[in-house]
Amino acid sequence: MRNIFLVIVLFGLFGCGQDFNSSSSDQVQYGAGLDASTPLGAAYNVLKDRCFQCHSAWGNYTTNQAWIDSRLIVARDWNNSILRNSLKNFGGDMPPSPHSALSTDEVNKLQVWVNGLP
Ligand code: HEC
Repeated sequence: MRNIFLVIVLFGLFGCGQDFNSSSSDQVQYGAGLDASTPLGAAYNVLKDRCFQCHSAWGNYTTNQAWIDSRLIVARDWNNSILRNSLKNFGGDMPPSPHSALSTDEVNKLQVWVNGLP
């Protein structure tokens, strides 16, 4: 009896995961973020938390190439990336008040991603 219960619970969990992943709606993509163990995923999740609420179109940039094509970043050249230079941390005004500047950890994730691009 206990096993049957477990199977039902597991099925429910996998079922939810499947629904979540298979949806193409932007809202769900933002909610889930990307796999944070890749440089792109770690950076995407920072931008999701700190920028997408205003820059919602950026949520569609789920690949390195999409970000490069947007011209917001220059591959391997973080210092010359518009994204970087828009930040309060570097003299820009993003994100606007009342939002705080990115943390060192958040900035590092973005920098590691951009400078490590192929
Ligand atoms: C509260 C809303 C808000 C948040 C959050 C926000 N922005 Fe912005 N951003 C704006 C607005 C409004 C503009 C256009 C006006 C301007 O340039 O100040 C803008 C413009 C920009 C631009 C230049 C125009 C463009 O789209 O190319 C960049 C780059 C930018 N933001 C980067 C960021 C980054 C990076 C973050 C997250 C760290 C961020 N913004 C978070 C509101 C926001």
